[in-house]
Amino acid sequence: MRAIIYDVTGDPEVLTPVDREPPQAGPGEVQVRIHRSGVNPTDWKNRRGAEAGTPVEPVQVPNQDGSGVVEAVGAGVDASRVGERVWVFEAAYQRPEGTAQELTVVPEARAVPLPDDASFDLGAALPIPFMTAHRCLTVTEGGPDHLAPGTLGGRTVLVSGGAGAVGNAAIQLARWAGATVVTTVSGPEKAALAEAAGAHHVLNYREQDVIAEVRKIAPDGVDAVVEVAAAANAEIDVAVVGLHASVAVYADDDKAPLSVPIRPLMLPNVRYQFVLLYTAPDGWKTTAVRDLTEALRAGAIRVGEDAGMPLHHYPLEQAVEAHAAVEGGAVGKVLIDVTD
Ligand SMILES: NC(=O)c1ccc[n+]([C@@H]2O[C@H](COP(=O)([O-])OP(=O)(O)OC[C@H]3O[C@@H](n4cnc5c(N)ncnc54)[C@H](OP(=O)(O)O)[C@@H]3O)[C@@H](O)[C@H]2O)c1
Repeated sequence: MRAIIYDVTGDPEVLTPVDREPPQAGPGEVQVRIHRSGVNPTDWKNRRGAEAGTPVEPVQVPNQDGSGVVEAVGAGVDASRVGERVWVFEAAYQRPEGTAQELTVVPEARAVPLPDDASFDLGAALPIPFMTAHRCLTVTEGGPDHLAPGTLGGRTVLVSGGAGAVGNAAIQLARWAGATVVTTVSGPEKAALAEAAGAHHVLNYREQDVIAEVRKIAPDGVDAVVEVAAAANAEIDVAVVGLHASVAVYADDDKAPLSVPIRPLMLPNVRYQFVLLYTAPDGWKTTAVRDLTEALRAGAIRVGEDAGMPLHHYPLEQAVEAHAAVEGGAVGKVLIDVTD
């Protein structure tokens, strides 16, 4: 079986193609034949580790997300799952068997049925961005604890970075759930992508007065902010949040500390919620998987240029290039084609 492994942290070049024995499904696990492996920033961050040159033992197959077909099941798993099309999440979380290989194994709950009319591309692009977006949209006090058509009806959501993978997913999910969606981008190409994703209002944060524009759209303030750059955007977020609003913070790319004034947030009982998918509550993950399955069945979530998420395909042997692309800030979704 072809696989990509790394046994030491570092640059993309630590990713090494190998032939190895397939991992076997243990009790409660399924073995999945991977068609697409989705690459996310977390995958290169894990590959880099805290310090370059640190040995990785056991060797690690990278990438959390993927899609494919259940090839075999372990003890205690319903044998009828064999042959099922699935999307896979958290394959490499505290486990060595990521999705950059022809066969991987995951606990059966992390292999979720993929509807027949949903492509493997969509299945592999979905997990981290859409689950993260789902959590960011369900942490508002008095807001919905799940997403479905209408659950965000009458609410306004501000998505910062609407051309990013999570930003795109947040626009699509908020739209599906009935919100008015405002998003920010850095330029015209990203504006076109955010519009394609379904945003009602797209603001160029480099050229426009975002606070004034959002206030025109939502005079009483927005109900939720999905925030990729909390430190840089603190002034905006503090100025545009409404009563009982939430600011969901899911990234810290600039590594700057978050500094906010207390009183303007205290008065409207605003909630700052920090979000990390891996440690989010199990009960919420169950809800997210259920809601995303419904959205997939409804054809409400999409990938590709016309969904604001251009796809970039790499063969398995070019995992180095695929990781380098994500690390370099590729616009769109990087997928590794493992099996045709
Ligand atoms: N906490 C979690 O569980 C979780 C889950 C998924 C991702 N993440 C993290 O979230 C970050 C983004 O992931 P991604 O996959 O969505 O990456 P991505 O596709 O590269 O998107 C990041 C987007 O943020 C935009 N951006 C940067 N600074 C901005 C600002 N000040 N205002 C508005 N937009 C800004 C970028 O565009 P411009 O620079 O052109 O504006 C870009 O479109 C990564 O650090 C990733 O590790 C965390």
